[in-house]
Amino acid sequence: MMDWLLEKSLLGYTRLGYQWRQRRDWEELSRLEGRVAIITGATGGLGAAAAKQLCGLGATVVLVGRDAGKLAVMRETLTRLPNGGPVECEIADLSNMQAVLALSERLRQRGNIDILLNNAGVLLNERRETAEGLEATFATNLLGHYILTEKLLPSLAGRVDARVINVSSGGMYTQHIRVDDPETRQLTYKGPDVYARTKRGQVIMTGRWAAKFPSVGVYSMHPGWADTVGVQTALPGFRKLTRPLLRNAEEGADTMTWLAAARRDRLQSGAFYHDRRIWPEHRMRATRETQADREALEALLSDYAQRLLGKDWLN
Ligand SMILES: NC(=O)c1ccc[n+]([C@@H]2O[C@H](COP(=O)([O-])OP(=O)(O)OC[C@H]3O[C@@H](n4cnc5c(N)ncnc54)[C@H](OP(=O)(O)O)[C@@H]3O)[C@@H](O)[C@H]2O)c1
Repeated sequence: MMDWLLEKSLLGYTRLGYQWRQRRDWEELSRLEGRVAIITGATGGLGAAAAKQLCGLGATVVLVGRDAGKLAVMRETLTRLPNGGPVECEIADLSNMQAVLALSERLRQRGNIDILLNNAGVLLNERRETAEGLEATFATNLLGHYILTEKLLPSLAGRVDARVINVSSGGMYTQHIRVDDPETRQLTYKGPDVYARTKRGQVIMTGRWAAKFPSVGVYSMHPGWADTVGVQTALPGFRKLTRPLLRNAEEGADTMTWLAAARRDRLQSGAFYHDRRIWPEHRMRATRETQADREALEALLSDYAQRLLGKDWLN
């Protein structure tokens, strides 16, 4: 009864959902010594919580952030964790494609990457453009992570148990992908809808990458509703209403860390997860995309990358 109620209502997104589900058979996560995890958006919110969890399990964590000061504070915090793994930092603005390309090159040079956690994300209530002239939500949430992932996947595919985890959102249940207007130039700009379309795009690309790189485990997930700076600034009214029920960042990050650490044979590449379980990718017929839509999204992202970075950007 409780499972049904949480599943059918939005209450499952709150800490009630987390607390109820984790009473079940949630296993202790195994140690990750020797595994290298890249985490975007690791300076705050869920990314910082996932970084703490992965570092605490002994993984080498590479924190990616756009602010050197915040990265230094995070590194300091993580190096004090008992039995924590080594910590490295990389500065990059995920909304700037030249910066993402440079980051990808540095990470390729570094090598030995096992886990890519694509977590950085924004919900903007007003349309903003980056220095490269891109709508900022599309640039940060979708295109930047597309370029980073495409650049790293060939080397990830050569590892024994590589994983890519795309942090999406339950908000994507409300939206169909719009390849005809990815930067919201024609459609009316509504922050939550624009955000949700990029999160829908991440879920679609999860399926594309899983099919293209069968040796890599590629997963998307939604964290539920967690009380972070992102929610505080983007959705103050929502936060005011729901605050007592919001998850904390550690609870929101749990499924990210689990997807990085769980036994690979328990996971299904290409699937969408929430609270350590596979969830449907659609709740409404109207949001379903066709195979042609999926192909068009991938072609669109590839065109953007070529236009911004040159035709040899993947080499
Ligand atoms: N919290 C929730 O309830 C919730 C629900 C569904 C999905 N999510 C998803 O979970 C992820 C994390 O969300 P959050 O709530 O933890 O957000 P948050 O508190 O705003 O943290 C976002 C992180 O991403 C970084 N970031 C943002 N834009 C960036 C850029 N252009 N380049 C590099 N780093 C950038 C931020 O860095 P700065 O510190 O420099 O700003 C910060 O470290 C997002 O993808 C979000 O969509 C969250």
